[in-house]
Amino acid sequence: ERTVNIGLMGLGTVGTGVVRLIEGHQEDLVHQTGVRIRIARILVRDPEKPRAIRVSRDLLTTDARDILDDPSIDVVVEVMGHIEPTRQYLLEALRRGKHVVTANKDLMALHGGEILSLAAERGCDVFYEASVAGGIPILRALVEGFSSDRITKLMGIVNGTTNYILTKMTREGADYAEALQEAQKLGYAEADPTSDVDGLDAARKMAILATLGFRTEVQLDEVDVTGIRKVTAEDIAYAKKLGYEIKLLGIAAQEDGLIEVSVEPTLVPQRHPLASVDGVMNAVYVYGEAVGETMFYGPGAGELPTATAVVSDLVTVVKNMKLGVNGRGMVAPYRPKALKTPEQ
Ligand code: NAP
Ligand code: HSE
Repeated sequence: ERTVNIGLMGLGTVGTGVVRLIEGHQEDLVHQTGVRIRIARILVRDPEKPRAIRVSRDLLTTDARDILDDPSIDVVVEVMGHIEPTRQYLLEALRRGKHVVTANKDLMALHGGEILSLAAERGCDVFYEASVAGGIPILRALVEGFSSDRITKLMGIVNGTTNYILTKMTREGADYAEALQEAQKLGYAEADPTSDVDGLDAARKMAILATLGFRTEVQLDEVDVTGIRKVTAEDIAYAKKLGYEIKLLGIAAQEDGLIEVSVEPTLVPQRHPLASVDGVMNAVYVYGEAVGETMFYGPGAGELPTATAVVSDLVTVVKNMKLGVNGRGMVAPYRPKALKTPEQ
């Protein structure tokens, strides 16, 4: 059977899950694709750091060139985060004809157009399912599942860290800082958790969802964002008394050529299904003209749930390689439509 070599960039929470899943599910992956996936090199910052899994020291490198310059590496799996140098690495990988799988919503929300355009030019795949709602295959659903429909609204809880904090504060009366620390320990939070609590992480995800759902290019700076820093225990108690839960909701809607995207703490009636989305769970409602209302629910962060999205993308790349159809991937770059934002 054939082997596909991958270069893994990052061996933190998600990278560890990717290694575990590739090793643990290898035979099933071979069964599906006829191809063995081999991790050829792993980029890290500190090769001496103790790791949660055993990996051969020879696999680890601190030099991205060891992956980018290696012609035997077919796919770069990027789970290191950050904008730079990551953007340069991925552009270089594509210039060299390598396919890319990434979990990086910061990068895709800001530079997705540039990356996808280069990928299309070079006939390479770029998949980024893990960038939104962790283990929920929502990007595939939007691009493939609803390709026949016109989506009018997307709404949901797309940040696990803030939902974990709000749930702890609501159900256990936990302190905000303590709950944030727990979310960090569990590997849910970003390297800089201010992007979670200030709503930026959710805004990046909503920009990606709106781009794919509305088939246009929604810019991050067009998203109206308020985080959860100012939500107090008193607000939560008061909301509860009135029959509501406070949730950080992302809402994207298009109507009459007008798109609006926002992220803000919102009062959700206790009987609404979103009110019972607790802890690290995420949920996304999709409203289509033809389908009506659908809801997707699942873990929004964490090692293995996120790794399932990454490795499933990898399987798609491998299947496309076998069929020779890379670069005609699921997630195409969209040109901006003549849609107006509310400011115009
Ligand atoms: P993490 O635990 O902080 O791991 C980052 C990894 O990348 C570490 O192994 C680190 O090396 C390596 N790294 C970082 N910067 C590097 C650099 N400049 N050069 C070489 N190696 C570098 O992060 P994570 O939580 O796994 O998240 C990774 C990505 O997935 C991010 O884009 C994040 O937004 C996204 N994501 C995360 C989750 C989640 O639940 N955590 C869910 C969905 C998406 P060392 O180990 O040596 O420090
Ligand atoms: N920090 C993110 C969250 C990770 O809490 O949802 C998953 O994207």
